Formats: sequence, C-alpha cells, structure tokens
Amino acid sequence: MDYETPQFFRVMQYAARADRDVVDMVSGNPDWDPPEGVRDGLRDYAEADADAFQYAPSRGLKSLREEIAARRGVDVSRVVVTNGAGEANHLAMTGGMDHFPGDEILLTDPVYPYYAGRASFLDAETTIVSVDEDGHLDPDAVRAAASEETSVVVVNSPNNPTGAVYGADAMAEFVAIAEEYDALLVSDEVYDHFDYAGRFTSALEQDSPNVVATNSFSKSMAITGFRVGYAVFPSPDGPAGDLVDRAGTRHMLTNVSGSRPAQYAVERALRTTSPEYYAKCRRRLERRIDTFCGALDAAGAEYNRPEGGFYVMARFPEFAGSFANVYELIDDAGVAGMPGEAFGESRSDWIRFALVTPRIEEAAERLAAFFE
Ligand SMILES: Cc1ncc(COP(=O)(O)O)c(C=O)c1O
Repeated sequence: MDYETPQFFRVMQYAARADRDVVDMVSGNPDWDPPEGVRDGLRDYAEADADAFQYAPSRGLKSLREEIAARRGVDVSRVVVTNGAGEANHLAMTGGMDHFPGDEILLTDPVYPYYAGRASFLDAETTIVSVDEDGHLDPDAVRAAASEETSVVVVNSPNNPTGAVYGADAMAEFVAIAEEYDALLVSDEVYDHFDYAGRFTSALEQDSPNVVATNSFSKSMAITGFRVGYAVFPSPDGPAGDLVDRAGTRHMLTNVSGSRPAQYAVERALRTTSPEYYAKCRRRLERRIDTFCGALDAAGAEYNRPEGGFYVMARFPEFAGSFANVYELIDDAGVAGMPGEAFGESRSDWIRFALVTPRIEEAAERLAAFFE
C-alpha cells in the first residue's frame, strides 16, 4: 500500500464526480454543530483589539494551555498546542525517533494511514502488529514485536478504523512495554469523547517519561477545520525532558504559531460547554451505530460493533474492500466508504464507513438493497 499519498481524497473525488446522489461516509468530518461557545468566541474575537490579530505565543495561548493542563492533570509546561492531532502526532513521532535509540516505529494493522505515511517519509523502519479479530490490540503481540530497535510505538484508542477501545490494563501494558524497550509510546486519544463502552483510559494515567498523549478538538467539538490540537509531553524535569522543548522548537520553525482566533474560541468552548453536549453527541452516534449495524445484519455482512469513535468496518460476502469495489458501491448503491485495503493488509476484505452523515438510514437501506 502506498501510504505516502493519502487516499481519502481519491475516493471523495470519485464520489463527488459520480453521476448520482451518493451518501458520503468516507472521511471523519462531523456533520453536527460545534458547542455554542465556539461560535460565541469567534463572534467576540471579531471585535478584539488589533494586538489580538497578531501571532499567538508559539506553544499556544497560555490560558488555553492552562485549561488543557488542568483537564489532563499535568503541569502546563508539558503542553504544546498544535495544528490538530495531526501535527501533535508528527511532533511526538519525530521526537521519539530522535530521543530514543533504534530507528523503528511499531504500528498496528489495520492502521490510521497517516501514521504509516509519516513513518514512510521519515524513512523509519516499520514493524506491524496485527490486531485481534475483534479489533483489540493484544499487549503480548506488541511485546513480541518490540525489540531494541523500537523507538516509537503508536496506539490509538478509541480506534480509527476498528472502533476498539483499549482498557486500563492494556494501556498500562503498552506503557510498560515502551519503558522496557526504551521507546516512546505515542497515544493518540483524539476520539476520547466518543467512548460508548465506558472503558477509555488515557496513557497519561501512567506517570511515565516514555509517554506522549496527543489529542485535538477536531472531533470532540466538531471543528476539524479549526486545526487546534495538542500534545502532552513528558515532564521537562525528567529523563525525556528534552522532548517538549524540541517539539516546541519544531512547531515554531514550521508554523511560527497556531491560529489565535481558533484557540480563543476553543478555550471559550472548553470553559462553557456542559458535559451534556458531549453526551448528546455520543447518543446521536449510538443511534446511528444501531441503524447502520442493523442494515449490515440485513446485508449478511460481518462487522465489529464500535465501542468508540465513529467508524464501522464491515465485510460483505464475496465483495473485497478494494478501490474497485468501493467505486462500484458509489456508482450502483450510492454509498461511499473507504476501502479496507487503505488501512492495511489484514482488512483488505473490509470497507470502512464513517457515521458522520444524517443520512445513515438511507445509506443503510441502500446497502441492504444492494447486497440483498
Ligand atoms: C486517529 C486519528 N488521529 C488523528 C486525526 C487527525 O486529527 P486532527 O484533525 O486533529 O489533525 C484523525 C482524523 O481523522 C484520526 O482519525
């Protein structure tokens, strides 16, 4: 698989050019509203003084970093605000490669393709660990694959694309493995608010110098276009203390700083959004999961009901998860998903559907009719 060329746009463009109405379930762009605080923050910002229109502090608005630090229970010196979780993952992975011995990145199969693309352009060796049939990542399999060569292990829970949520024991084991092999665990927690199993555990629960947790507000506040994320690095006073400074410098050299109005609006929303906003988002997605999984049953498909996140992977009888078949589904069923082969060999028979459209019921009916 060529991970260096992101494939999402290829499928989205095919769907956009289709000669018929298509329900777009390709990428993870939420279709619901952000919290009111985001809009309020933006409105106020338009009237701010001229100095508010200039560079933000490079590592992020201090008040936003403080708010994040308080929520994550860490010292503010460990927080760098980034352009989404994408940049946070980049800083964490490159920092881990530089700081820790070895030149290998351990990834899972299936994998969020941007991790694999990044590993490839960093010229890192990659070792792939297959997840279980149910989408869970077995710590014993990770331990068996790790070696002195491993410098970075990347995990993602709730997981894109499998929907698995790793439990506290598994997360503790992943941290322990990183410590044993003198490596960095990069824990991408971008779907933390979408945990239907009540099992999500942050890697930060383990107080370890071998962990960087990455996150963003793209999904939790439905603002993928704002580009506000963050990474929590090991304490600057500890054995991996250089990671945060190195990341701060790289972030500055690349971006100067992140978007100031976007950070301002996110901070406002963090302070004003009630837990009910997030609970409502979860309930909406759980209803969609019920509807969609019901249709998959009707279509005779195999799938794992997601425990978290907003993707469902399905395997239809005698219909591989290839680009050709996904294009056929677009043309003949009017539903666009992502070919499983884009996420790794183990899921090449599967297709991933993102539940980020109000038209789930319609998509479900179309799929059920197509595979009837
Ligand atoms: C697992 C995972 N990590 C990171 C990202 C990127 O997040 P952001 O928009 O905050 O860069 C995504 C987006 O789909 C994702 O699924």
